[in-house]
Amino acid sequence: MSQHDDIVETHEKLLIVDFGSQVTKLIARRVRESGVYSEVHPFNRVDADLLKKFGPKGIILSGGPSSVIGTGTPRADEAIWSFGVPVLGICYGQQTMCAQLGGAVESSDHQEFGRAYLETTGNSPLFSGLEEREQVWMSHGDRVSKLPEGFEIIGLSQNAPYAGIADEDRRFYGVQFHPEVVHTLNGAKILRNFTHSICGFKGDWTMAAFKGEMIKAIQDQVGDGKVICGLSGGVDSSVAAVLIHEAIGDQLTCVYVDTGMMRKGESEQVTSLFRDHYDINLIHVDASEQFLGLLQGVSDPEQKRKIIGGTFIDVFEAEAKKIGGAKFLAQGTLYPDVIESVSFDGGPSVTIKSHHNVGGLPERMDMELVEPLRELFKDEVRALGQELGLHQDFVERHPFPGPGLAIRCPGDITKERLDILREADWIYLDQIKKHNLYNDIWQAFAVLLPVKTVGVMGDGRTYDYVLALRAVTSTDGMTADYYPFEHSFLGETATRIINEVRGVNRVVYDCTSKPPGTIEWE
Ligand code: XMP
Repeated sequence: MSQHDDIVETHEKLLIVDFGSQVTKLIARRVRESGVYSEVHPFNRVDADLLKKFGPKGIILSGGPSSVIGTGTPRADEAIWSFGVPVLGICYGQQTMCAQLGGAVESSDHQEFGRAYLETTGNSPLFSGLEEREQVWMSHGDRVSKLPEGFEIIGLSQNAPYAGIADEDRRFYGVQFHPEVVHTLNGAKILRNFTHSICGFKGDWTMAAFKGEMIKAIQDQVGDGKVICGLSGGVDSSVAAVLIHEAIGDQLTCVYVDTGMMRKGESEQVTSLFRDHYDINLIHVDASEQFLGLLQGVSDPEQKRKIIGGTFIDVFEAEAKKIGGAKFLAQGTLYPDVIESVSFDGGPSVTIKSHHNVGGLPERMDMELVEPLRELFKDEVRALGQELGLHQDFVERHPFPGPGLAIRCPGDITKERLDILREADWIYLDQIKKHNLYNDIWQAFAVLLPVKTVGVMGDGRTYDYVLALRAVTSTDGMTADYYPFEHSFLGETATRIINEVRGVNRVVYDCTSKPPGTIEWE
């Protein structure tokens, strides 16, 4: 049993059966927010054995893209109905529950997508504390048309007469809408009613408890061995490093590789935080010449990513050899990276971008991994960071990609262009902080385009670069929307950048969502 299994074992657990919905991860997050540990497992791996081993106190069946009416579409394992714990089916989960338990599902002429209103009836504990009319979020074509025996209606909407159903004796519940999305205004309350009132969870999943247990688990795993950890300055690797340091002190050495593509002030900030504030062994490698040399003349985004990933491994490996004898490699892997999503056609997914992290290192160096954040979502990592004494400003920092400014500098990368980008990016973020917008935005950054345009400053002609500004809102980086800045903010920021940064004479704002765009430009 791994360190993670040991920790999870001490907590009450909820199982989420994934039927492939885009928002299944959100169910897990909302449930965790109510203090309940939850895990997502694909529907075709949940059977009597898994239930027995995992031992959930409650089960949620997620939504999904299939139709219960079609043949060969996913079903919940029969063992779920006889396991003896409460079950909540959401959207597709509700439909398959009804179809499997003797009810019926039909394809509806009245599809519902988006906002709808739920009218609650009776006094089911699932809807306890709700108004008679509640805004909910629907996204379905099919709908339940006949209830299985033992079920009754507890809520309806204009186009879904079975928007909420319950068999209170067996403690089986179903909702046609999505309580996990924020547009269902009281969705978190509904999920909490399910976990706390119906399943009887105590809410024992707190970051304070997790911290204590994980420190012990790291000590057990590592013994008196040495651990090395690649620090990027990002929140995940930083929180992992501080947690591991608290567990094993000087047995940990962190390696910070300056690729020459970091943001303004980044290297100094990381060095001072870890060396001076936490007294952590830190090796600061300035490998900027090596990286920039290898990237010279390379403008293809995938090639850039591959060169950076490979060079990072070379540099890191060389430093690890100098320390000598480290048996463990620490990584800040998070739960969303671990969850496998269900692919119905079974085909490989397309590589949009080759992501760079320290992937590839463990095999090459034959090291055992220490991944203390494997069970956590980003918001939990932030809470853990604060529990460990990291400053709020630090834990709330926007994500920064492994390849750094290289993928924000389309075309050739040169030191001159990186310096221009660094300066402009710093001013843009300074503006955002001054206007108190930083925490409303998932990620904001500048991109220096490989395009020069003509301008006029004073009495002279200029011929300088175009800079694009990007800012998005998102919950997990998988989808995103552009941030709707006030025009006055954009105007003021453009003026500041053009006045203060040599080499830029035009600023544009990127208002593309994801999809169809990605967040980074390369
Ligand atoms: P995209 O550009 O794919 O990015 O929409 C989604 C999120 O992932 C970050 N990102 C990366 N993070 N290594 C990382 O650690 C990478 O290679 C990488 N590429 C993109 C990006 O900043 C955004 O938050």
